[in-house]
Amino acid sequence: MARKKIALIGAGMIGGTLAHICAREELGDVVLMDLAEGVAKGKALDLAQASPVFGKDSALSGGSVEDYAPIAGADVCIVTAGVPRKPGMSRDDLLGINLKVMKSVGAGIKAHAPDAFVICITNPLDAMVWALREFSGLPHEKVVGMAGVLDSARFRWFLAEEFGVSVEDVTAFVMGGHGDTMVPLTRYSTVAGIPVPDMIKMGWSTQERIDAIVQRTRSGGGEIVQLLGTGSAFYAPAESAVAMAKSYLNDKKRILPCAAHLTGQFGVDGMYVGVPIVIGAGGVEKIVEISLNADEKAMFDHSVDSVKGLVEACKGIDPELA
Ligand code: APR
Repeated sequence: MARKKIALIGAGMIGGTLAHICAREELGDVVLMDLAEGVAKGKALDLAQASPVFGKDSALSGGSVEDYAPIAGADVCIVTAGVPRKPGMSRDDLLGINLKVMKSVGAGIKAHAPDAFVICITNPLDAMVWALREFSGLPHEKVVGMAGVLDSARFRWFLAEEFGVSVEDVTAFVMGGHGDTMVPLTRYSTVAGIPVPDMIKMGWSTQERIDAIVQRTRSGGGEIVQLLGTGSAFYAPAESAVAMAKSYLNDKKRILPCAAHLTGQFGVDGMYVGVPIVIGAGGVEKIVEISLNADEKAMFDHSVDSVKGLVEACKGIDPELA
């Protein structure tokens, strides 16, 4: 059986890290594409030269987005093209620049890899994945956004630290838009199956400490932007997108929180927002409509409203989206 092909559009910090993980895990052959052709080719060559050391045979190549032909036949496309934020910026501040990038990337995917499963990482995530789907015209179930896996991973790590237990035994849930309004769901987060509210009752933590963790999760990306000084997080975003790609390529049917196109679920129609989904060979195979209590629903609706504002802004900028 021929090897799978993974196209990485954007060969910056996240794109390069994705290429490294894909090559080390031999997920398939990797094509790195960027506006900066030398960066894409240079990273591909560097990784190809690392492959004899780690003993894997994925082919690696780089190309310029002047010509998208090298992505032809890709099974998965992961999009990180665009600009990251600088200290003091919110993800929403990137909208104008990154919307134009989504237009050219969408056209490239439409022309050369219309059968791919597409994972968007570019921010502001929920609006960019919506726009990328519109520009590419791919089926909604084949285009998703990576945010919830990352936000949940941050939440999981903070909880594991708080309880002094393995990250492996902590599951967590974050829904809504990938921004300050995201909704970490404590009730659906567990330690070896024990819901976090029960852990509080058992005296392992206090409500105040968990509330602080929820807040740190919400601003988890910004904390890293401040520390790095230039650019934003890249290891955890790349790992998160790979988990989604593997669920698709191996038909694992994992339940992962992702930005998915909603058609009435959770009272949302025609927008991308973070919700739990099943990812298998068909792409988004199910949307898991968990029940939300009144407080959770109010927080989720508030988050949806902020995504709606960004989608409207996109429509105002590009008439093709209106
Ligand atoms: N087509 C292809 N590549 C592009 C384009 C374009 N139109 N415009 C910019 N790029 C490339 C840049 O040349 C750069 O190499 O996208 C890459 C982005 O890489 P970084 O600047 O290192 O950003 P990164 O940290 O990888 O984040 C990418 O993901 O999490 C989000 O907020 C983040 O929007 C940002 C994106």
